[in-house]
Amino acid sequence: MSDQFTIADTAAQLILKRTPLRPKIGLVLGSGLGSFADALTDAVRVPYAEIPQFPCSTAIGHAGRMVVGNAGDVPVATMQGRVHLYEGYSAQEIAFPIRVFGRMGIRAVILTNAAGGINRSYAQGALVLIRDHINLQGVNALVGANDERFGVRFPDMTHAYAKEYRAMAREEADKLKIELHEGVYAALLGPSYETPAEIEYLRRIGADLVGMSTVAEVIAARHMAMKVLAISCVTNMAAGILDQPLSHDEVMETGERVKTTFEALLRAVLPRIATDVV
Ligand code: HPA
Repeated sequence: MSDQFTIADTAAQLILKRTPLRPKIGLVLGSGLGSFADALTDAVRVPYAEIPQFPCSTAIGHAGRMVVGNAGDVPVATMQGRVHLYEGYSAQEIAFPIRVFGRMGIRAVILTNAAGGINRSYAQGALVLIRDHINLQGVNALVGANDERFGVRFPDMTHAYAKEYRAMAREEADKLKIELHEGVYAALLGPSYETPAEIEYLRRIGADLVGMSTVAEVIAARHMAMKVLAISCVTNMAAGILDQPLSHDEVMETGERVKTTFEALLRAVLPRIATDVV
């Protein structure tokens, strides 16, 4: 049996063989943002099912694929669709695509997600730069024997979300007149939404946002010393903030409404990050 490093390397070579592009930036597109990858030029699309050991969601309509193409002048590798712990995947499985990014030569990852807003200064549809996270998923992508070829046993998480990338995103948002907040993301396992008591607890421990993704990916990226920018779309206010039940339909609707703005911000930030990873 091959080790995960060798498998990630094989997967990376398989993807790179299909394109002359050599992206240094990887994007993980959360629910509703898949159209960003559809708009790439010179694109090659590799279904996850064709990539060795790549986790593919079993849910209908969530096949998922890696799209490598140009966003304007910037070559990028994008994951169109991701898997989650609540689907039953292990944190190591969720980390694997990020490790493939790393072995493809990706130096910076941009992660997007849908999140519930805990901070009352946010409104539904707000875009929020993640400044830091609180991992309450009960798992860590790096549990198990450490492979030093990926990174060190005890990676530092002090600067998990690159300060300079956040500054770039804020500058570009200002130019586009997009309001961009900044906050702390608490990651829970899901799939049930939180109770109002859980949201009050998360607020008291310093969380501004709550979601069910991203953190395992960030940890895997930092392990490999890739830099991270992460942006949440507040698709709904978290449980108990407003006196109304949460629904997945609401999450999808808000995602759809904010998509154009979110994608404009991504397109503006990419050339800035590209200057850092050449
Ligand atoms: N809680 C957890 N995850 C989410 C939410 C939420 O309210 N909204 C979107 N993803």
